[in-house]
Amino acid sequence: MTTALITGSTAGIGAAFARRLAADGHDLVLVARDTARLREQATELHDRHGIEAEVLTADLADDKGIEAVERRLADRRNPVDLLVNNAGFGHKGRYLEVPMSDELTMLKVHCEAVLRLTSAAVEAMRERGRGGVVNVASTAAFVPRGTYGASKAWVVQFTQGAAQDLAGHGVRLMALCPGFVRTEFHERAGMGTDNIPRWMWLDADKVAATALADLARGKSLSVPDPRYKVLMGASKLVPRNLLGGISSKTGRKYGPR
Ligand SMILES: NC(=O)c1ccc[n+]([C@@H]2O[C@H](COP(=O)([O-])OP(=O)(O)OC[C@H]3O[C@@H](n4cnc5c(N)ncnc54)[C@H](OP(=O)(O)O)[C@@H]3O)[C@@H](O)[C@H]2O)c1
Repeated sequence: MTTALITGSTAGIGAAFARRLAADGHDLVLVARDTARLREQATELHDRHGIEAEVLTADLADDKGIEAVERRLADRRNPVDLLVNNAGFGHKGRYLEVPMSDELTMLKVHCEAVLRLTSAAVEAMRERGRGGVVNVASTAAFVPRGTYGASKAWVVQFTQGAAQDLAGHGVRLMALCPGFVRTEFHERAGMGTDNIPRWMWLDADKVAATALADLARGKSLSVPDPRYKVLMGASKLVPRNLLGGISSKTGRKYGPR
């Protein structure tokens, strides 16, 4: 029996990873801020799949929250075999419209927490000679798309660099780059989604299943859908300024303030 720790497990892509991994017989450590929702999820996954699901309430925008998850990942008596750094959020607003404190919170959750949790997990995995880490980035990492895209570009570069440095130690690291996925993400950020064409939406369960298959194949980067693979390939041919113009207009329509 192996154990997976998922941050942001209670909704969207994280919940899809939890369902997939529980169905495959993995025990889980579920991490998010809402304890009641975590407990409900743990009970449901335990009852449906017979796996053990621990609840770890932690705010990854806070040092204490990050430290609590680091401690769990470093626990050699209860090893974590797979870490999914998934917790994240979007901002309602373009550059300079978002308060600096919110920009810094995004860097804390998307970059500092990912660096610290990956490092805590990978040290223990390297000792055992096996383990895996999926860091959820975005296709926004590859196009000019505000501070969100910049934070996700960091996730991709960090993950692929670390994967290179750890080659030969039995530890796999992969950056996952989905396009638009139907989750709570846009509503939480107060973003309208009317201007996102229907064909661009991905299903969270398919994204999680493809990501795990790509990790098993040893990929360090997963773009989990053929439509987005084509788009990402084509985007390399488009001048950066034009790409930035298109990208910043798609899926950034803001709902009522
Ligand atoms: N949806 C998309 O279109 C899309 C596309 C590409 C990449 N992504 C990335 O995919 C990841 C998951 O997004 P999603 O779409 O599944 O979002 P979601 O449906 O809004 O779920 C976000 C999850 O993260 C948790 N979370 C948020 N802030 C947290 C914090 N400070 N500390 C701990 N947990 C926190 C939430 O639970 P609590 O509120 O209880 O903490 C929730 O479980 C993010 O990294 C996002 O950037 C999303």
